[in-house]
Amino acid sequence: MTRKVILAGNWKMYKTVGESVALVARLKETLADVKGREILVCPPFTTLYAVAKALQGSNIQVGGQNLYPAEEGAYTGEVSPKMLLDVGCSCVILGHSERRQYFQESDQFVNQKLKVALEYGLKPILCVGETLEQRGEGRQKTVVSMQVERGLQEIPAEAMKDVAIAYEPIWAIGTGHTATPEQADEMHAVIRNNLSGLYGDQLAQGVCIMYGGSVKPGNVDDLMAQPEVDGALVGGASLDAESFARIVRFQS
Ligand code: PGA
Repeated sequence: MTRKVILAGNWKMYKTVGESVALVARLKETLADVKGREILVCPPFTTLYAVAKALQGSNIQVGGQNLYPAEEGAYTGEVSPKMLLDVGCSCVILGHSERRQYFQESDQFVNQKLKVALEYGLKPILCVGETLEQRGEGRQKTVVSMQVERGLQEIPAEAMKDVAIAYEPIWAIGTGHTATPEQADEMHAVIRNNLSGLYGDQLAQGVCIMYGGSVKPGNVDDLMAQPEVDGALVGGASLDAESFARIVRFQS
């Protein structure tokens, strides 16, 4: 069973249109020969159109960082799946810890978003991860398993080929404190075990489980060498072309 390998950049609230286009122009050039790895950039909404246009015909996909689970409507400030597709997105990050933490997104809401994304043909990356406090109390496995199970509620097995999971321990995001490769691998195995319980072992073996949290050129090789780590969701280090390109070209 070969799993997809996904290297994704989550740009968060960084980059103007000019900066975004310059960054992807460089990535398009330096990563043109990469095969067998899915490369994804997730810029802010305001630069998606320009980025997708600049990447047309390349091996780099474009994704949103969030969506609102309705086609259109009176939802001031929100962006719909139809709009993401319209500007050239094929993927969407859902349930990022910053959304959960700062915008009170619940597992139920994230699940609703996941369903709608799939309905529209956007491939979701479902983010899960525990806080430092939860890890301190030894509850990381329970917390993450719950997020996986609730996030995937009523998602049918046949849709799972388009779903990736990102394990992002909150204490490792933007802090420079990466999980050790062993810690990441252990939690990925827990997630795969959850998937196995929900969908059976064969399907679980095929799901791409990415790691996120201070992934850098200097630690990506060791993380990707772990048997259960299939990809990376990269924040800070994806804002620089050379550093993201090195991550995409991880060696393991
Ligand atoms: P980081 O962010 O790489 O800057 O830690 C990862 C993420 O939040 O997806």
